[in-house]
Formats: sequence, structure tokens, C-alpha cells
Amino acid sequence: MALLILEKICKNFKTGNTTIIVHKDLSFTVDKGELVAIMGKSGCGKTTLLNILAGIDYPDSGKYVFDNSEVIIRKTNDGIKFRRNRIGVILQHFALINDFTVYENIELGLWEAKISKNERRKKVNDVLERLGIWDLRDQYPDKLSGGEKQRVAIGRAIVCEPILVLADEPTGSLDNETEKEILEIIKELNKSLDMTFIIVTHDEEVAACCDRTITLQKL
Ligand SMILES: Nc1ncnc2c1ncn2[C@@H]1O[C@H](COP(=O)(O)OP(=O)(O)OP(=O)(O)O)[C@@H](O)[C@H]1O
Ligand SMILES: [Mg+2]
Repeated sequence: MALLILEKICKNFKTGNTTIIVHKDLSFTVDKGELVAIMGKSGCGKTTLLNILAGIDYPDSGKYVFDNSEVIIRKTNDGIKFRRNRIGVILQHFALINDFTVYENIELGLWEAKISKNERRKKVNDVLERLGIWDLRDQYPDKLSGGEKQRVAIGRAIVCEPILVLADEPTGSLDNETEKEILEIIKELNKSLDMTFIIVTHDEEVAACCDRTITLQKL
């Protein structure tokens, strides 16, 4: 069953007198429970596409259907409502808050969830255990390795139990062994929690672990 459908999405950026065409008539479907890689040359619009899927940005034309409803976003605040507790985002450089502990960083993923303090604690603790970072819960991010930081960033993205997780080069700054560990975590979450993942990557090995690859062309 389709979780999201893109139909003839067009996206341009205008700066001064020049217009950059990033996406023209881009169409694809992602089914519930899929683990999909997005590949393509630098500048072909991978991050722009994730931003559209997350409702951080919006297309100039075309149709985006998510979970059976058309997504209509015309300003940034619309996107916050649209994403709420349904889409988790993992950014390339972790984007953790250094003044917050590991526990508090993960808890940030629940800021929009209307749940009691006890439920909140239970959800964060479950994620800490699932991702193998329970012992790090009181640490601050600047004391962590790249792989540990990425686990925390994944934790923050999944703690609200989203149906879709978007990840922009989640293994881009990790060594080979750590990359494998992070991929295993993503695969495990995908299979056991039936979370759909869309992962931007430059790495063929990462793409090979996914169910399918969508390759974008630079226009
Ligand atoms: N806010 C913006 N304003 C103007 N141009 C932009 C903006 N965001 C992206 N672009 C341009 O759109 C194109 C696609 O950018 P995007 O960041 O989506 O590429 P990418 O595929 O993610 O690249 P990379 O692999 O280097 O991360 C680039 O030419 C970029 O310069
Ligand atoms: Mg990018």
C-alpha cells in the first residue's frame, strides 16, 4: 500500500535573475514499510526532495499525497502541523543540542506529543535501550563518538513513533564499521517496527542494503 505518492513535482530556486531548475516532473511512489535509498550527484536535489517530503519546503507545482491525503503546504508553519508525530527527520550532521544530555536530546523528539511525564519517560527509556545507548543517557553530545551521536539523532527522530523516517546521509561522516552498525539499526527499526525509511546516500553499499534505489538526475 502506498504511503506517499509524488506526481509531477517541479521545484525551482530563483536567486536574482537566475532560476535553478532542481526537479521537473518528478514522480514516484513509496509503499508502507519500504526502505528506499535516494542517490544522485551532488546538487541534483536530494536534500530539496527530503525537505519537500518533510513539509519543510514545498514544490512549485505537482501533487504530494501522504498517507492518503494531499499535502498542501504554502508556508513553514503548515509543515509543522503536517509532520507532527508522523515523520521523523535525521540530518546529516546530527544536529544535537550540546547543552542537553543524550536523554534530553531524545526527549526533544516528543515536544509536540501530548502525553504525560511518565509516558514520556517510558518512551525515551525504550529508545535508549533499543539503540544501545542506555549507559550514555546522562552524557553530553560533545563527549560522544560519531556513531553514538548518530544513534542519539536516530533516537530523537523515532521516539514519537513516526510512520516515515527521512535521513539525509545518515552514515556520511562515519567510518566503515560504524556505518554498518548504523545501517543495521535502521534495518532493524524498518523490519521490527514497520517504519518506512527514505535514506539519501552517496554510498553504493548503503543503497545495496535498501529494498530499492531511486536515482535522481541533475537537470
Ligand atoms: N534555498 C535555496 N536557494 C537557492 N538555491 C538552492 C536552495 N537550496 C538548494 N538550492 C540549490 O538547489 C540545488 C539542489 O540542492 P540540494 O541541496 O537539494 O542538492 P543535493 O542533491 O542534496 O546535494 P548534496 O549531495 O551536495 O547534498 C543546488 O544547485 C543548490 O544550490
Ligand atoms: Mg544534500
